[in-house]
Amino acid sequence: RKKIRIHDLIEKKKNSEKISSITCYDASFARIIEMSQIDFVLVGDSLGNVIQGKNSTLSVTLEEVAYHVRCVRQTIKTPLLVGDMPFMTAGINRHETMHNAGLLMRSGAEAVKIEGATPEICDQIHFLSNNGIPVMGHIGLMPQSVNALGGYRIQGKNELDKKRLLKEAKALQDAGCFAIVLELIVPSLAEEITNSVKIPTIGIGSGNQCDGNILVLQDMLGMNKDFKPKFLKHYLKLEDTIKEAMNDYCKSVQEKNSENE
Ligand code: KIV
Ligand code: NA
Repeated sequence: RKKIRIHDLIEKKKNSEKISSITCYDASFARIIEMSQIDFVLVGDSLGNVIQGKNSTLSVTLEEVAYHVRCVRQTIKTPLLVGDMPFMTAGINRHETMHNAGLLMRSGAEAVKIEGATPEICDQIHFLSNNGIPVMGHIGLMPQSVNALGGYRIQGKNELDKKRLLKEAKALQDAGCFAIVLELIVPSLAEEITNSVKIPTIGIGSGNQCDGNILVLQDMLGMNKDFKPKFLKHYLKLEDTIKEAMNDYCKSVQEKNSENE
């Protein structure tokens, strides 16, 4: 496979080809993703949930994301590698945001993702993208703002929110973002946003009319049977598969099976 670059993602939208993306946090999974058709990999701050077992992403630090970027970097070559800017590491001022994004880039990220589209954030995105750091935007449900948004619920239901989200998507495009994640946005609105910007939209829980889609790796592999929001498909039932493998192993240990000696 040919190395995927930002330019290729934008070309895909032009040619009406879909973009597939997945999150990843370690070299073992990244090795297998490398063999697949995935276009870009995000080291998401969702690592707070799936790696650290927290119930939000708020406590994830920049150093932690950088560490996982370095892990994934070891075995990812072809897909574009994006590092997530965690809570309070973007948005204060240009200088801090630049400094923080710089750490993820030095760790091996080829772009960063920033939640939000306030005028301050758009200004900083413009600054980064003009200084060699490509930025992916993220609007709709923003897990880092869960306390302000009042929970993990669908976004863009009333007219005011619809207008605001459309404006935010255009503002991110104007600020220089090369793509935008649309998380948990009413599908008809996600489609409208997709049709009104030139850069690719990457949906999660936002219907199937975005230019691409992203899922959290452990979620789509069904590693937690009980975690199944409506939009999520379990492409595997790894919880059962792993549990059975462990029990097989325990059984052979108890039987003093020679294979384990
Ligand atoms: O942290 C993450 O995994 C994300 C994606 C779900 C978009 O931000
Ligand atoms: Na995230």
